[in-house]
Amino acid sequence: MTFDKTKILQLMNEGLEMEYASYIQYVTQAAITTGPYADGLIARFEEIAGDEAEHAKLLRQRIVALGGKPTTKVGDIQVHKDSMQAVKINLKYERDTVDFYRKMLNLIPHDEVILYEAIEHIVEDSQEHVEELERIVGR
Ligand SMILES: [Fe+2]
Ligand SMILES: [Fe+2]
Repeated sequence: MTFDKTKILQLMNEGLEMEYASYIQYVTQAAITTGPYADGLIARFEEIAGDEAEHAKLLRQRIVALGGKPTTKVGDIQVHKDSMQAVKINLKYERDTVDFYRKMLNLIPHDEVILYEAIEHIVEDSQEHVEELERIVGR
């Protein structure tokens, strides 16, 4: 399998932008969430935000290891005053994220073990985020 480093680096920076946006989205949503289920939602948003920050770190490290330059750009952010709408927005975002990284995984040879496992870890977390948000809004 040929390994297109330039293409992977470009996708990883795209992912990094998404992770930054996602982190800001969750922590902001946690801060503005009110209502009878606020405590549980806030805890969930903050826990997921921690994962997003970790994903960004993994991407920065792997980008540098591949000889690239980590972006400082931040993707589009959407927060919503209605917490359930916010969960729906994030659920869609997480599903798109799973697709995005799965496609990326298909471009990485398995013998690039550190990189492959880093992206695999992000896919796994993102699938967990999908499940956690599905539990809140239902499928
Ligand atoms: Fe993430
Ligand atoms: Fe996520």
